[in-house]
Amino acid sequence: MNNIVEIKDMSLIYNTPEGETLAVDNLSLSIKKGEFVAIVGPSGCGKSTILSVIAGLLKPTTGIVNVNTNSIIGYMLQKDYLFEWRNIFDNVCLGLEIQKKLTEEEKNYAHKLLEQYGLSDFEKSYPSQLSGGMRQRAALIRTLMLKPEILLLDEPFSALDYQTRLSVSDEIGTIIKKEKKTAILVTHDISEAISLSDKVFVLTKRPAKLKSIYEINLTAENRTPMKSREAPEFKDYFNNIWKELDVHV
Ligand SMILES: Nc1ncnc2c1ncn2[C@@H]1O[C@H](COP(=O)(O)OP(=O)(O)OP(=O)(O)O)[C@@H](O)[C@H]1O
Ligand SMILES: [Mg+2]
Repeated sequence: MNNIVEIKDMSLIYNTPEGETLAVDNLSLSIKKGEFVAIVGPSGCGKSTILSVIAGLLKPTTGIVNVNTNSIIGYMLQKDYLFEWRNIFDNVCLGLEIQKKLTEEEKNYAHKLLEQYGLSDFEKSYPSQLSGGMRQRAALIRTLMLKPEILLLDEPFSALDYQTRLSVSDEIGTIIKKEKKTAILVTHDISEAISLSDKVFVLTKRPAKLKSIYEINLTAENRTPMKSREAPEFKDYFNNIWKELDVHV
């Protein structure tokens, strides 16, 4: 029973003045501790809703959602939400500062992460002085500062241009694996899902139901997201998932 997330027969209905929207329909899935999984599905099918339920921001209408962790849940979004008037060091420390937990030890941890992930020369810089990829890295470090066991990533690379996106998803994927976090990545990008994940959950169009699960096994030495793309099995996974996402089938 080393599942860190267990969802059983979960449905979620949004109630608005215009009526009810069934966003998630009888979804069951589980995620093991330390796994990196991706969730792919058609636009508007209910992916962000599922992350919000896991984060505890939304209560499921029916069903059971268990998240077995004592630590906080890290959430990273498409937009980095760095504060432009705070330098990178102060942005990274913001969460602990608000909680009044910013000790010398935690500051050293911030320096260490910034150093390890190539931002130590930019501690005093402001977000506007950083590239899109560096900003996303800073946002990830800010999330890691809170020592979450689980990271929820909702299209975290989609605001970046294609070239940057490739290298940033490679970097961020490598960091998350090195820090041994459980990660749940929502993405539209099939290649990104395969290259980063141990498992890909494919959803139907709204209301989201589980359509299929792919265990990703790639022949690649020292598998990094970038090297995964060159593995011989990559293309077959891509084609199969692509077909599954075709809404006409
Ligand atoms: N707060 C809300 N109130 C009412 N309906 C909502 C709310 N949030 C989402 N929905 C509806 O629920 C459905 C699923 O939305 P959700 O944002 O989870 O989809 P998604 O798969 O993340 O979409 P995208 O691919 O565009 O990011 C959509 O039909 C959406 O309009
Ligand atoms: Mg979404």
